[in-house]
Amino acid sequence: MKKTEQLYEGKAKKVFKTDDPNYVIVDYKDDATAFNGLKKGTIVGKGVVNNKVSNHMFKMLEKHGIPTHYVEELSDRETVVKSVSIVPVEVIVRNIAAGSLSKRLGIPEGTKLKSTVLEYSYKNDDLGDPMINDYHVYAMGLATPEEMEKIAEYSFKVNEVMTEYLKQFGIELIDFKLEYGRCNACGGKIILADEISPDTCRFWDSKTGEKLDKDRFRQDLGNVEDAYQEILKRLMGE
Ligand code: C5P
Repeated sequence: MKKTEQLYEGKAKKVFKTDDPNYVIVDYKDDATAFNGLKKGTIVGKGVVNNKVSNHMFKMLEKHGIPTHYVEELSDRETVVKSVSIVPVEVIVRNIAAGSLSKRLGIPEGTKLKSTVLEYSYKNDDLGDPMINDYHVYAMGLATPEEMEKIAEYSFKVNEVMTEYLKQFGIELIDFKLEYGRCNACGGKIILADEISPDTCRFWDSKTGEKLDKDRFRQDLGNVEDAYQEILKRLMGE
C-alpha cells in the first residue's frame, strides 16, 4: 500500500492517505504533550513503543471479539489502519483512583474503586476536552444511543480483557482512554480506533506500584524513556 499525502498531524501521530480510500497510515511520533498541550517535550523511542504496544493490544482485543481499526504494522512507527470518522467522545475507564478523578473527587491516588467508572469527554482541544454525559452526547448529536450502547459495551469488555491480560506481566491497569470511529468501509460500524499505549493508559508495576506510563513525563518523575521501554519489554520481550 502506498503512503500518499498527509491528512492530519496530531500531538502524537501523523495520519497519511493511501492509494486505497478505505485505509490510512498512522505514523507515531516521539513528541509528548500534557495538560492540553501546555507541557511539551520529547520521549525518545516513544513512537516505536506506542506503535508496537497499540498493535499488540489491538490484535489481542480482536481475538476477544472487539472490532478495531488495526490492519497491518508496516514499520517500527507506521501502521495501516481502517479509515474511520472519529466519534468526538473520549471514553475513560477507571479501576483505581488517580489523575483527574483523585483531584476532582478527593479520592486518594491508589484507592481501589468499588466498581468500574466510565467517563466521557468531548474531544475538543479549544475547550480542554470537557467531561460530558450521555445526555450531552445526544443533545450535541455527537453519537446515537445505539452507538453509545456499543461504545460502553466494548469499553467495559476492553477493560476486563486488558486487566486480566496485563496481570501476567506484573502490570496493573489503573485507567485508560479509548476512542472509537465509524468505519468508512464497513457501513459506519463502530470500531475501536486511536491507540492503546503508555500515553493513554496508566500502568503501575503490580508489586512496587512504580508508574510505567506518561505520568512519569507529566509529573517529572524521571526515567520516562525507561518506563516506555519496560512496557514494550514486558509485553513483547523486546
Ligand atoms: O487525566 P485523567 O486522570 O483524566 O486521565 C485518565 C486516563 O486517560 C489516563 O490513563 C490518561 O493517560 C488518559 N487520557 C488520555 N488522553 C486524554 C485524557 C486522558 O489518554 N486527553
